[in-house]
Amino acid sequence: MRRFLFGLIGILVVAVIGFVALTWRSELPPMAPRAAASFDPALVAKGADLAAIGSCDVCHTKPGGRTYAGGYPLETPFGVLYSTNITPDPDTGIGAWSQAAFTRAMREGVDRRGRHLYPAFPYDHFTLTTDSDIAAIYAFMMTRQPVSARNEDARLNFPLNFRIFAAGWKLLFLHHDELKPEPSRDAAWNRGRYLVTGLGHCGACHTPRNSLGAEKRHRPFAGGDGRNWYSPALDASSPSPIPWSAEQVFNYLRHDFDPLHGQVAGPMAPVNHNLARVPEADVRAIAAYTASLNDTDAATQQRQTQTALAFARDREATLPIMRASTATTPRQPEPPDASAQSKEGAAIFAGACATCHHGGGEWPSTRPVPLGLSTTVHGPDARNLLHIVVDGIHPRPGESGKIMPGFAGALTDAQIVALAGYVRSRFSDKPAWTGMAEALQQIRRRPAVTEAP
Ligand code: HEC
Ligand code: HEC
Ligand code: HEC
Repeated sequence: MRRFLFGLIGILVVAVIGFVALTWRSELPPMAPRAAASFDPALVAKGADLAAIGSCDVCHTKPGGRTYAGGYPLETPFGVLYSTNITPDPDTGIGAWSQAAFTRAMREGVDRRGRHLYPAFPYDHFTLTTDSDIAAIYAFMMTRQPVSARNEDARLNFPLNFRIFAAGWKLLFLHHDELKPEPSRDAAWNRGRYLVTGLGHCGACHTPRNSLGAEKRHRPFAGGDGRNWYSPALDASSPSPIPWSAEQVFNYLRHDFDPLHGQVAGPMAPVNHNLARVPEADVRAIAAYTASLNDTDAATQQRQTQTALAFARDREATLPIMRASTATTPRQPEPPDASAQSKEGAAIFAGACATCHHGGGEWPSTRPVPLGLSTTVHGPDARNLLHIVVDGIHPRPGESGKIMPGFAGALTDAQIVALAGYVRSRFSDKPAWTGMAEALQQIRRRPAVTEAP
C-alpha cells in the first residue's frame, strides 16, 4: 500500500514538473521606447484595417473610456475579466513590448512578462494570423496615443483566478493549425476564411462552447452566446428563413441592413461598424466565406426565398389591424391558439408595434422588413427579441440610420412576455419559446449592450 502511495505521489510530482516545464514562459526583455515616426506609414495603415477586422477597439475600450485603454468588463460563466491597456504607454500599456512579445501574445496568449492570458482574449483565433499581418497590427498599436491607465485585476471564481489554469486550458484547446489554401475555392473565399476564422474571430460568438468555455470544434458556427445575446448559427442550421447569400451578408456587414433580413441591433453592431471602414474587398471576402457556411446552392436559395416571402406576407396580410390602404383584404381570424395570454400579446402588438410593423405600405423602403423574415423571431430563444423590445434599435451617436424605440418604460414584464409569445406564434412556424420571464429579468438588470463602445 505504502509503495503504491509513493508511486502515485511520484507520478504526480513528475506530472506537475512536466506541466510546469511545458507551460513555463520566460519574460521577454522590455524595449526602449520607439518613436512613432520610425514605423512605415503604409504598414500602419494596413494595421489599422486589420485591427478593425479584429475588433480590438470593441473589447479594449470601456464605455466612455479612451480607445484601446482597456478596462472593458467581459462577463464569462467563470467571473469577470477586464481587457487591458494596449496603448503604447510604457508603464501601464504595451509601450515596452517588442514585436516578438506582441506576436507571442497574439499566438500563444502569453504576456511580455511570461504570464498566461485568459482566452477571453481570442488568441485561439488570432493565432492563425500571419507574421506580416501581426507586424502591421503591432505598427498600428505602437503609433496610437499612449494613455496612462492601470489594468484591473480579473475577478474570476476560485480556483480559476490562478493563471496556471489558463495554461492548462491552452494545452487542451489552443491549436496551432495552419490554414492550407483550399484549391477548389477562389481567392476571395480563401481570404474570407482566413479573416473569419482568424482575426475576425467570428466563431468566438457564433460557435457553441463546451463547459470549459472552449469552442466546440466539431460544430463550427452552429450558434453561440455572447453578452447574453444569441449569436445566430451561420451554418446550415441557421434559423434565418432565407438562407444568407454572399451579397446579403455583405449588405448586412457593410451597411447594417439587408432588405430581406433586416437591421443589425446588438453586439454585432460594433463588429459591423468596424467592417464599414475597411477595404471593401475584405468585407466581400468575409461575406463569401460566411455565406458558404450554410451550403445552399442558388436554386435552393431562390426557392426558400419565395416560400419565406409568401409566409411572411401572409402573416402580415391577415393581421387583425389594417391600414386604410389594405382594408380591402378580407380580415381573417387569429390562429386558433388564441389563449388569454396570446390575446393580450395581440392587443399589445396592435397598440405598440403595428404602427410600424404593419402589413401595408411600400416595402422595403418605408417600413421594417416583415417580422416573418427575421432571424430574431425564428431563433431558438427569446433573448434577442426581448433585448430589441426593451432597448429598441438606434443608430450610433452622430450617425443616421433606422430607429425603433425601446419599450423598457412603457411595458411591464408580463406584457413583454405576452407580446414576445405572440410575435413568435404569429410570425414564425417554430415551437413556442420557454423561459422568457427569467431571460427578461436578466436583460432588465443589465445596461444596454448597444451602448458599448
Ligand atoms: C473579445 C474581446 C477581445 C478582443 C476582440 C481583443 N482582445 Fe485583447 N484582450 C482581451 C482581454 C480580456 C485581455 C486580458 C486577458 C487576461 O487578463 O488574461 C486581452 C489582452 C490583450 C493583450 C495582452 C496585454 C497585456 O498587457 O497583457 C494584448 C497585446 C491584446 N489583448 C491585443 C489585442 C489586439 C491587438 C486585438 C485585436 C486584433 C485584441 N486584443 C482583441 C480581450 C480582447
Ligand atoms: C461579439 C460577438 C459577435 C462577433 C465577434 C461576431 N458576431 Fe455576428 N452576430 C452576433 C450577434 C449577437 C448577432 C445577432 C444580431 C445582432 O446582434 O444584431 C449576430 C448576427 C450576425 C449575422 C446575421 C445572422 C442572422 O441570421 O440574422 C451575421 C451574418 C453575422 N453575425 C456574421 C458575423 C461575422 C462574419 C463575424 C466576424 C467578422 C461576426 N458575425 C462576429 C455576435 C457576434
Ligand atoms: C417607430 C417604428 C417602430 C415601432 C413602433 C416598432 N418597431 Fe420594430 N423595428 C422598427 C425598425 C425601423 C426596425 C429595423 C428595420 C428593419 O429591421 O427592417 C425594426 C426591427 C424590429 C425587429 C427585427 C430586428 C432584427 O434584427 O431581426 C423586431 C423583431 C421588431 N422590430 C419587433 C418590434 C416589436 C415587437 C414592436 C412592438 C413592441 C416593435 N418592433 C415596434 C421600427 C419599429
